[in-house]
Order: sequence, then structure tokens, then C-alpha cells
Amino acid sequence: MKREELRVNGARLRESLETMAKIGGTPAGGVQRLALTDLDKQGRDQLVQWFKEIELDVTIDAMGNIFGRRAGKNDALAPVMSGSHADSQPKGGRFDGILGILGMLEVLRTLHENNVETERPVVIVDWTNEEGSRFAPAMVASGVWAGALDLQWAYDRTDGAGKRQGDELARIGYKGSVPCKATPVHAYYEYHIEQGPLLERAGKRIGAPKGILCLHWYDIYLEGEANQVGPTPMAGRHDALCAAAEMILAVNDLPEKMGGNMVATVGEIQNEPNSRNIIPDKVHFTVDIRSWDDDLALRAWEDLQQSCQGIAEGRGCPMRIEETWRVNHSPFDERLVRGVLERAEALGYPALHTVSGAGHDASYMNQVCPTAMIFVPSKGGRSHVEVEETTWEDCEAGANVLLHCVLASADEVEA
Ligand code: GLV
Ligand code: MN
Ligand code: MN
Repeated sequence: MKREELRVNGARLRESLETMAKIGGTPAGGVQRLALTDLDKQGRDQLVQWFKEIELDVTIDAMGNIFGRRAGKNDALAPVMSGSHADSQPKGGRFDGILGILGMLEVLRTLHENNVETERPVVIVDWTNEEGSRFAPAMVASGVWAGALDLQWAYDRTDGAGKRQGDELARIGYKGSVPCKATPVHAYYEYHIEQGPLLERAGKRIGAPKGILCLHWYDIYLEGEANQVGPTPMAGRHDALCAAAEMILAVNDLPEKMGGNMVATVGEIQNEPNSRNIIPDKVHFTVDIRSWDDDLALRAWEDLQQSCQGIAEGRGCPMRIEETWRVNHSPFDERLVRGVLERAEALGYPALHTVSGAGHDASYMNQVCPTAMIFVPSKGGRSHVEVEETTWEDCEAGANVLLHCVLASADEVEA
């Protein structure tokens, strides 16, 4: 069969997605497969089995990233790499992340059964803890691999129960022996659902983002004074939850105040002692600020800190701030992005040049090698929810685009 006539097997891709969706499947049709839990291990074991079935050379690095390598004709050349993540949000969907791994697996199965030889090696990857939901921050393992984050720092990150990320990696048997350190990559592609509404609105099947917004994460801790709610007069209270409430609205107002072009969100909050008849004395909440303009996001943070300081003082609730994580906006390799658009059109799929508001491991990969992404539509623009949905036809279309992008890059012999 001629190279350009190769197509993935959509039914097989669907079957793999459905098998994976059962690991951590929720009654409402979503997935809960938090990083480094037993369910994550089960998902990883399944991936390793599938990788071995098509004779990939499987290695696991010190952050638990799983690589499956298919040899090239000239095996000394830098490989083409593609993949995503198998972990999920607490009430996540069946496509976020895993589509990028199983889409690439389907590409490799297609190459395998057609005995296609490529000039360069081709590597599939499952990045550990992309979501940053159980252990902050997100994209941590690709961040360590790219040299942007420190391995020991990543190991020491703890979850809500105080468990260390490094210990949990070892517990599930995925603290590998290979150093978590970048090696040369010729091109990195990440296939993913869009997680927003733009493709659907534009009536397009494939998206090629020009890059990813910056992601800035902060943690704010407030101290109040606990007391019995009945006898304590309203005047003179130090209610940490009320202070947090004012601050949360300040976060929500930030994009408009700063002139748009950014989003700002509080998604997580802990309140202590969390009893209806005690004035709250300890609150922790998170702040997530994203923009294409890194400076704007930083100025927004300066502005927010001032607002929060005023609120904390006004309510007599001392505040502690942690600047947890920042990753700059990430403009992708223009040649690869153009390639995604051209191959989508050549396959007969209408395509959109867009931007990614969601964070992806592609953001860190873009710091070490030419990178691009392939998006397919999310029904209703919904993601990080159990009703997250993408049609099987779109899943297949995106995998076909990935197949031809990977083939094109894997046959380039010059650096
Ligand atoms: C990753 O899922 C993010 O966009 O937060
Ligand atoms: Mn994802
Ligand atoms: Mn996600």
C-alpha cells in the first residue's frame, strides 16, 4: 500500500478507548484515574501490554514516564515522539489525555501491521501526572524531562493526604531506572481533544493550535479565628471563609479589570473546621491565571495580591501566599503547525488554526524540540467533566492526521 493511502483502524481505536474507559470508569460515564493511584497503575499495565504486543521497546524513567520505541531504518537519528497522559481529573472524561496515547498506539499498530519502515525511530509516550489534580503542579513529569522542573522537588510534592509523589510512584511500581532527562527529539506531536467550543462552533473537524497559553498557579492560605457561631456577634469576627469569598470574586473580576485576553479561576478550596456552627479559621484556595501574554498574567497577579492584602487586613485574617508554578505561553513550531493543517485538508478534514487554553505536556516539550498539536472537537465544548464526549469518527480523523504527520516527520533525514 502506498504511504499516502494508509489509514488507521477507527474500530480498533474505539475498542481500545472503551477498554481504557473501564479502568476507573464512573457510574455517570466518566473516568476517575488520578495520578499514581492503583487505577493509574492498572491503566499503565494495560498500556505496557499493548506496547509490547507490537514489539515496542518499553522503558520507564525516574518520573514514571513510559516510552515505547519502534526502531527506524536509521536508528541513530533523533526519533519522532507522540503521546499524552493516562491520568484524569477526579471526575474527568474518557478522552482527555488517553486519546493522545491510544491515537498514537493506533498509528503504531497501523505501521506495524503494514510493515512500514520509517527512516527515524518513532516513540510513543505516557507522561506521568499531567493533570496536577492529586499532586500539583500539572505536566510535572514532562517538565522534569525537559529540564524545567527539578526531580527531587517533583518527588517531594504531596497530595491532600500528605503522601509524597515519589513514594507513590515507587508504590505502584513505576519509579523506573532510566534517567528522566531529555534526549534529542526530531518532532513531538500531541493529539488531544480540544476541551473548548471553537471547533464545534466553526464546524471544523481538526484544530491546529498555534500554541498554549501561559499557566500560573498560586495557593493562598488564610488564618481566621474560630468560635461558636451563635453567641459570637457579627462585629469583630475574623472569618477566613468570608475573606476567601471576597478574594475569589476578585479573581473572577481580574480578566475584565486587566482588559480581557486572560482567564482566572479558583477551582479548589479547603475550609476548616468545616462545621456549620463554627466560624472558619483556616482556608486554603488555589488561583489559576492563563493568558497568551505572560506579562499581563504577571501584572494581574500583582494586582490581585494587592486586592487580597487589603481584604485580609480588613477582615483581620493573616494571609500566606505560595507561587506554586508558572509555565510561560508556548508558541509551537510554525512549520509543524502548518503541516498539521495541510495534512488535515489533504485527508478531507476541514481544519482550524486555533489556540490552546488547556495546558498540555506539549508545552514543556516545546521548550526542547519542535512541537505541534492536533485537536478534535469536544461536544458542547465540555471537558474535565464526566459528560466529556468526542465522536468516534472525529477520534479516527485525528488519528489519521497524526499518522500522516508522524510519517512525514519520521521520513525526514535531515536534522
Ligand atoms: C490541564 O489539564 C489544564 O489545562 O489544567
Ligand atoms: Mn489533557
Ligand atoms: Mn486535563
